[in-house]
Amino acid sequence: MCGIVGYTGSKNCSSILFEGLSKLEYRGYDSAGITVIENSKAITIKAQGKLSNLKPELDKSGFTGTCGIGHTRWATHGKPSVENAHPHTSGRVTVVHNGIIENYVELKSHLISTGRIFSSETDTEIIAHLIDIGLSKGKTPLEAIAACTVSLKGTWALGILIDGYSDTLWAARNQSPLILGTSSGENFIASDIPAIMSLTNSVIFPEDNEIIEVSPDKISIFNEQLEEIRRTPQTILWNPVTAEKGGYKHFMLKEISEQPRALSDTIAGRITSEDLIYFDGIELPLNIKRVLIIACGTSYYAGLIGKYMIENTARIPVEVDFASEFRYRNPVLDANTLIISISQSGETADTLAAVKEARKSGAFTLSISNVINSQIPRVSSSSFYTHAGPEIGVASTKAFTCQLGALFMTAVHLGIKTGSLEQKEAIRLVGELRTIPSKMHSIIDQGAQIKVIARRYMSSTGFLYIARGLNYPIALEGALKLKEISYIHAEGYPAGEMKHGPIALIDENLPVVSIVPKNGYYQKVVSNLEEVRARGGKIIAIATRGDSEIADIATDLFQIPDTDPLLEPLLTVIPVQLLAYYISDFKGTDVDQPRNLAKSVTVE
Ligand code: AGP
Repeated sequence: MCGIVGYTGSKNCSSILFEGLSKLEYRGYDSAGITVIENSKAITIKAQGKLSNLKPELDKSGFTGTCGIGHTRWATHGKPSVENAHPHTSGRVTVVHNGIIENYVELKSHLISTGRIFSSETDTEIIAHLIDIGLSKGKTPLEAIAACTVSLKGTWALGILIDGYSDTLWAARNQSPLILGTSSGENFIASDIPAIMSLTNSVIFPEDNEIIEVSPDKISIFNEQLEEIRRTPQTILWNPVTAEKGGYKHFMLKEISEQPRALSDTIAGRITSEDLIYFDGIELPLNIKRVLIIACGTSYYAGLIGKYMIENTARIPVEVDFASEFRYRNPVLDANTLIISISQSGETADTLAAVKEARKSGAFTLSISNVINSQIPRVSSSSFYTHAGPEIGVASTKAFTCQLGALFMTAVHLGIKTGSLEQKEAIRLVGELRTIPSKMHSIIDQGAQIKVIARRYMSSTGFLYIARGLNYPIALEGALKLKEISYIHAEGYPAGEMKHGPIALIDENLPVVSIVPKNGYYQKVVSNLEEVRARGGKIIAIATRGDSEIADIATDLFQIPDTDPLLEPLLTVIPVQLLAYYISDFKGTDVDQPRNLAKSVTVE
């Protein structure tokens, strides 16, 4: 996610802004910039890459101004570059933004048709233009900002400067994080508490669709009708490390909890208000006869789910291969094969090599990645970016569910292209996808139930995860999550395979985690669980809310909302993520940096 800071007071603001941005480095970024009002005019410096690249610009800037804004960019629209770095200026207005403007394409083309000139590929720049247009029509800053935000669809946290106002800045928020810091004779805005916690611990949290005017002695908050709202500052007593994790004990737990927002951001800008998918910028070839998905680890399990999705919607055969196997097995490929690579980091060596190998055959390669301009997207024919934001915990969580969202949208898109999916059905599926973030929230809100279950089984020396169909890869993923952060051995298995060997393992010392939602496989999985129970096995069942039958079979039960079978994995994965997290936390392992593992495996 991008990071925003702003300051107005009596001090030279440039070093305060730079310090604030450095405290947001954990959010990940690929460029940075600062704007300061000097003699009533906004002066901007920017640099690509690490924040340290901005320091020489800052040292030679000679800034003395006391009001300014700063930004670290995690690219979502437009490659990492100085031109695309924030802040962005149009006329008298300079803006920094964290979030995604879903309707920026139509707004930008309208603005261009009115003669507006753009200097970046970002969605943010349209905001500066819209506010500048409002001012040129005689609106006050607040009126111009309100008129702008009313026309936006999507998410935003904004910092705004206007030439001629030497000690005032403005802010606005809708769904993206923004806080206001208060102190005597100076005030702050920031994306997150770490940016300002060395300067004040008195913080106000604005709500969605609010606009804020900040001067050295006053913070005024308004709704979109510009009615003033009173809000009392809160005192934050976090230490710096806790603050970076947003108050969570580990980044992994924070990232599990961020999944609704991450999925919403990944969906935003890819579905229209009529619930149609639009794949602008991703021109898939016409004559796709076969799909081959290549990935590693958790991303490979996402690929297994993508197989079920695409074969169900597009009726095209899909194979899924470990990248480390694919690259050496002399695969049979041709121009009718669509290669989909999945990689959170976009840097995994095996996947990168596999994509390069695949391209030699002339196959079209689509990368699904979470890092704009990382190596795998750069060597691919086209890229579908997830917008999970930086994933710090080594164990992948929010990136995984965003990969599933991207695969689902690709499956619906392919289904329409091949004619095997009716428009009406496609709209129904996309409509159901829209409900997933709130269903995720309801599961995360019940996390304490998983914590109780984790406490009960934390001393087990092995686990078996079983499921069928689209949830079989979630059994694999759940086992991997547990293994990689708790160091307890676990195995995922198709439930139908129990009788071919694994049932010999069953006794009261081997807990069986079963993903058993009410879908077409339900009765089959219940029969497998009966066999487990008959042999004294303990069952931790993840089932659909309202399912009373499973309660008689399971030793422990966690229930999740119902959804379309193709979308179930986006929900069933959350309890297994939480189970692995809590067991590991109880065991005291290094949850965010487990032994022997790296976040991105850039070596063979
Ligand atoms: C997942 O929890 C692991 N950290 C690991 O399996 C990871 O998914 C794998 O290394 C692939 O990484 P990538 O998605 O960045 O390519």
